[in-house]
Amino acid sequence: MRNPPRNPALDAIPRNLMVELDERKAALRRAGRKLHDFGLGDPLEPTPPFLREALRAAVPEVSQYPSPLGTPALRRAVAGYLDRRFGVTVDPDRQIVPATGAKESIFHLPLAFRGSGRTRVVMPDPGYPTYEAGARMAGLEPVKVPLRPANGFLLEPDDLPRSLLDETLLLWVNYPHNPTGAVATRDYLERVGRAALRHGFVVASDECYADIWFDEPPLSFLEVQVENVLAIHSCSKRSGMTGYRSGFVAGDPDLVAQVKRMRSHPGVASPDFVSAAAVAAWSDDAHVAERRAIFRRKRDRLLAFFREHGLRVQGSGATLYLWVEVPPGHNSASYALRLLDEAIVVSPGTAFGAAGEGFVRVSLVPTLGEIEEAVERWRTIR
Ligand SMILES: Cc1ncc(COP(=O)(O)O)c(C=O)c1O
Repeated sequence: MRNPPRNPALDAIPRNLMVELDERKAALRRAGRKLHDFGLGDPLEPTPPFLREALRAAVPEVSQYPSPLGTPALRRAVAGYLDRRFGVTVDPDRQIVPATGAKESIFHLPLAFRGSGRTRVVMPDPGYPTYEAGARMAGLEPVKVPLRPANGFLLEPDDLPRSLLDETLLLWVNYPHNPTGAVATRDYLERVGRAALRHGFVVASDECYADIWFDEPPLSFLEVQVENVLAIHSCSKRSGMTGYRSGFVAGDPDLVAQVKRMRSHPGVASPDFVSAAAVAAWSDDAHVAERRAIFRRKRDRLLAFFREHGLRVQGSGATLYLWVEVPPGHNSASYALRLLDEAIVVSPGTAFGAAGEGFVRVSLVPTLGEIEEAVERWRTIR
């Protein structure tokens, strides 16, 4: 078609960081370079064998459509996890909807609530790009709030104009936070929860890194408040299942009911054999502790190097990421490009929003051995 119709909302979404990084990496690979890839948050540790087996064992002889409500076994396993991990009791039938990964549920969530008169979706900058994509594709207005090191990268609703909060449909919080690795305090979550009740908006709390921590286990929003709140979790980072596509949305039963109605339409139900693997994943914590120990070793090695190399790290108390200040004389893009000259791939902070300027994000993805090699090269770069 010569002049295909265009969706202006699609044009307004900044180009996906993954696509751009992939293109640059492919060019380097074509040139025969071995990459030290700290760019994407897609770990290389094998999926634990018992999870792969759970999926294989559940592949049925006869294939039938999965339910958008997920299997009862999955909803029960999720409820068990929320109880064990956070001490939160939820009704598996009224307060949980399984999803095909966090990204999918984040993208679709605004569709469950749009049209109610409120048009704004508040989100962190820097932040996970799908909050904006989902808002725009639902015809809503994204409002990006800069997060600063000085206040621990917390998105404070009390600092926002009342008029904005009264027009806000959804407010995204994401702790532990991608890309800064910041973690929320209980006080903070209580402040956000109170603001949600006062102004009548929905808090969407993306908690997909809740189990990748290095000091204290992070809280779930559901520990402090359920009313007006939806929490989103994922098997991806916790269990090494990024390719399986499984997560869930849980929280306020009235909101969950709306999400369920919406989700019966787009055909986003997770296949039952994936759900069987997810049941095994949410029912076990030992494999998660093992993964945390691996990420901790990588983190310790990189933190020691950054200290020695004079690079300051901010936030970074949890998640798969270190949020590293660029050295004097550089901005995010110039430093990322300088590292790329040495085949070291990091994400410029600005890939997550304008307020990411001055930082690069370093993922704990390469193996320890690869980190040693990368550090030898990085040492030579100022
Ligand atoms: C903050 C955040 N939310 C959601 C996701 C998506 O996770 P999933 O693999 O469950 O779709 C990611 C993935 O990197 C993320 O960083």
